[in-house]
Amino acid sequence: MGDRLKNKVAIVTGAGSIGPGWGNGKATSVLFAREGAKVFAVDINLAAVKETQEIIQQEGGDCSVHKTDVSKSDEVKAMVDRCIDVYGRIDILHNNVGITTLGGPVETSEETWDHAHAVNLKSMFLTCKYVLPYMEQQTGGSIINISSVGAIRYPGFSYAAYSASKAGIMGLTKDIALQYAEKNIRANTILPGLMNTPLVTASLKKAYGDADIEKIIAQRDAQCPMKKMGDAWDVAYAALFLACDESKYITGIQLVVDGGLVCKFS
Ligand SMILES: NC(=O)c1ccc[n+]([C@@H]2O[C@H](COP(=O)([O-])OP(=O)(O)OC[C@H]3O[C@@H](n4cnc5c(N)ncnc54)[C@H](O)[C@@H]3O)[C@@H](O)[C@H]2O)c1
Repeated sequence: MGDRLKNKVAIVTGAGSIGPGWGNGKATSVLFAREGAKVFAVDINLAAVKETQEIIQQEGGDCSVHKTDVSKSDEVKAMVDRCIDVYGRIDILHNNVGITTLGGPVETSEETWDHAHAVNLKSMFLTCKYVLPYMEQQTGGSIINISSVGAIRYPGFSYAAYSASKAGIMGLTKDIALQYAEKNIRANTILPGLMNTPLVTASLKKAYGDADIEKIIAQRDAQCPMKKMGDAWDVAYAALFLACDESKYITGIQLVVDGGLVCKFS
């Protein structure tokens, strides 16, 4: 166990994983706990987040779980109140929840557009809305919002609702970073690239079926300058740096975690 987050309380949203293996939120929760944080792990899927809690507790860490749909205002408020009841403070808000959608404006229904924006973007507005007053009282905090390189680059197919909502996260985070800079509350965005997580495997299976999955994973590996997709721990270690005091003079940035992908011409 390390102590980079000793005495800190961290809310992690989407702290479960939609399938077997390590999602970004699950790995980040476990890493935060390994570094001494008390983790308030939130997910719409209670069974998934309980798996994360079990891992943390087996390693001797501290983790409480809460079932919340982060796109719903009343549920987010109740989640933040519960974290304060349990731990008395909130030092880190790690907004990890995100869902993917495929298609351009013609193929995307209004419902899909609204749902993607509610889950990917409005959720972060809501968690910040209810967490910031506590961070202000405590005179400090770190907010980490998970966007995607899809917000700044075209991946070769259209996923308009996803990329627009992920781009919105960068605007929201920049605004919070500047509004709260004097109050010692930092807000930063992480842009993961092609990461091999259960979310990606599930989306690929939905789009291409089981048969082609190995082939498509190999193609995605080949697209990366390092010839391999990243994994959930790459995102988790970036989040740890932004969460802890080592990054105390860093706010408003967009940290790309993609093995050099966005530097390529194509
Ligand atoms: N994996 C990648 O390649 C990649 C690339 C870029 C960005 N990202 C971003 O990383 C983030 C997490 O990805 P992951 O791989 O850990 O995903 P994941 O799907 O494995 O985990 C996300 C968790 O969020 C939960 N969730 C979904 N909707 C929710 C809601 N409304 N309220 C509360 N919880 C909800 C799910 O139940 C799941 O447990 C997402 O924001 C995603 O867009 C991933």
